[in-house]
Amino acid sequence: MSGLRIAVSKGRILDETLPLLARIGIAPAGEIGRRLIVDTTVPGVQLIIIRATDVPTYVAYGAADAGIAGKDVLLEHGGEGLYEPLDLGIARCRLMVCGYPDAPLPASRLRVATKYLNITQRYYAERGVQAELIKLYGSMELAPLVGLADCIVDLVDTGNTLRANGLAPLEHIADISSRLVVNRASMKLKLPAVERLIGDLRAATGEGADAPA
Ligand code: ATP
Ligand code: PRP
Repeated sequence: MSGLRIAVSKGRILDETLPLLARIGIAPAGEIGRRLIVDTTVPGVQLIIIRATDVPTYVAYGAADAGIAGKDVLLEHGGEGLYEPLDLGIARCRLMVCGYPDAPLPASRLRVATKYLNITQRYYAERGVQAELIKLYGSMELAPLVGLADCIVDLVDTGNTLRANGLAPLEHIADISSRLVVNRASMKLKLPAVERLIGDLRAATGEGADAPA
């Protein structure tokens, strides 16, 4: 599997990805610490550690051959230049419209705060709803509480963050999990290594275990 650079993001995805990679024999060589490029126990296989939202960009441009990214990030990016061969089944959650339960319809245009502008724009356009979108970078739950927005589009897992702030999930947009993405050129030029990575990860995650051969 030599000559592969794999992009992963810090935080939740890295925490869930490292055990998965360990199962297929890929482990960071030493502490990751604040390093951004990390060699692994497999010669030639490197990890790069970047922001979650940057994973599709690095992989689409070929700066990484493959990457692990949430479906939310991929939907928002659009997926151009990427293959998405495998659902890894980690970091599962739902992308939802959330707000005050039983809130009256706003007198004017619905105001929606989110970091997912493209997904949200598509969602309301498909429903013929005119919405004003407000871009935020985190802690979206605050926006309805202080009158910045009528509702938010954000990820929900346990629902604890919503409940703690008196909000509720209102509309389901998409089920989310992390996916393996592969650069289109690497798929051709490094086919044996990429196929091995996909095969090993598929076996490790159990995806396709019940599928016909
Ligand atoms: P950044 O570092 O760019 O601010 P982030 O804060 O979104 O990114 P994480 O919170 O680690 O980074 O989220 C990374 C991915 O994990 C998300 O894109 C999503 O796919 C998934 N995720 C986020 N929140 C949850 C959650 N509460 N439960 C399960 N999966 C989640
Ligand atoms: C994510 C998401 C929600 C929360 C949902 O935030 O944006 O706020 O998790 O999870 P829950 O339903 O289990 O409460 P995260 O913890 O990643 O913080 P962030 O604001 O830095 O993205």
